Amino acid sequence: MKPRDAVTLAISGASGAPYALRLLECLLRAGRPVYLLISDAGRIVIEQECGLRLPTAPGAAREVLLERGDGAGELRLLGLDDWFSAVASGSNAPRSMVVCPCSMGALSAIARGASDNLIERAADVVLKERRQLILVTRESPLSSIHLENMLTLSRMGVVIMPASPGFYHCPEKVDDLVDFMVARVLDHLGVEMDLVERWGGERKD
Ligand SMILES: Cc1cc2nc3c(=O)[nH]c(=O)nc-3n(C[C@H](O)[C@H](O)[C@H](O)COP(=O)(O)O)c2cc1C
Repeated sequence: MKPRDAVTLAISGASGAPYALRLLECLLRAGRPVYLLISDAGRIVIEQECGLRLPTAPGAAREVLLERGDGAGELRLLGLDDWFSAVASGSNAPRSMVVCPCSMGALSAIARGASDNLIERAADVVLKERRQLILVTRESPLSSIHLENMLTLSRMGVVIMPASPGFYHCPEKVDDLVDFMVARVLDHLGVEMDLVERWGGERKD
């Protein structure tokens, strides 16, 4: 895997695990190598919301996740203390990182540069190297602390993308709402997709 062409995807413990799994699937199908990080709370939410219990061993968890993308693509699942991995250093880290979903805890840690685990460190590296960081935040309502953390990061060029799908594409099922958000993330990453019709395209009437 060429680390710099890869995308770092971090799944934290906010609600919205279906977004994360769909995003992973789309990235792998598009042939983008993925470094995957999952927080402990992220694993709990994946099980709660997607009914998917991930094995603790990274190798076994990787196999389960790869199956969702038809077994295609390059996926490396990293432990939260895998300090020797490429994402931990500006000399070799991927150019893009997405935290999806992003908990308010992860948002806060990233905003203050905590770097206490590999998700926080990878985000810190992306920030210091002035690369692309996208946070798919999820909480409601938002406190002033949440808003200030978002503003701090937005001012540094971070894309704050609240998990709040639109309804103007007339979704019929939950998957349509999930795809709406995932499509926006893929657009920002420059990954070709046809998950949702674009606004202003040809009308079918
Ligand atoms: C089912 C479930 C849903 C949760 N939803 C949210 C949420 O939407 N937003 C949020 O900030 N935290 C949410 N939490 C709480 C976080 O998981 C918790 O703050 C955790 O410490 C975040 O840790 P992490 O950022 O390391 O994943 C949820 C927890 C569970 C179990």
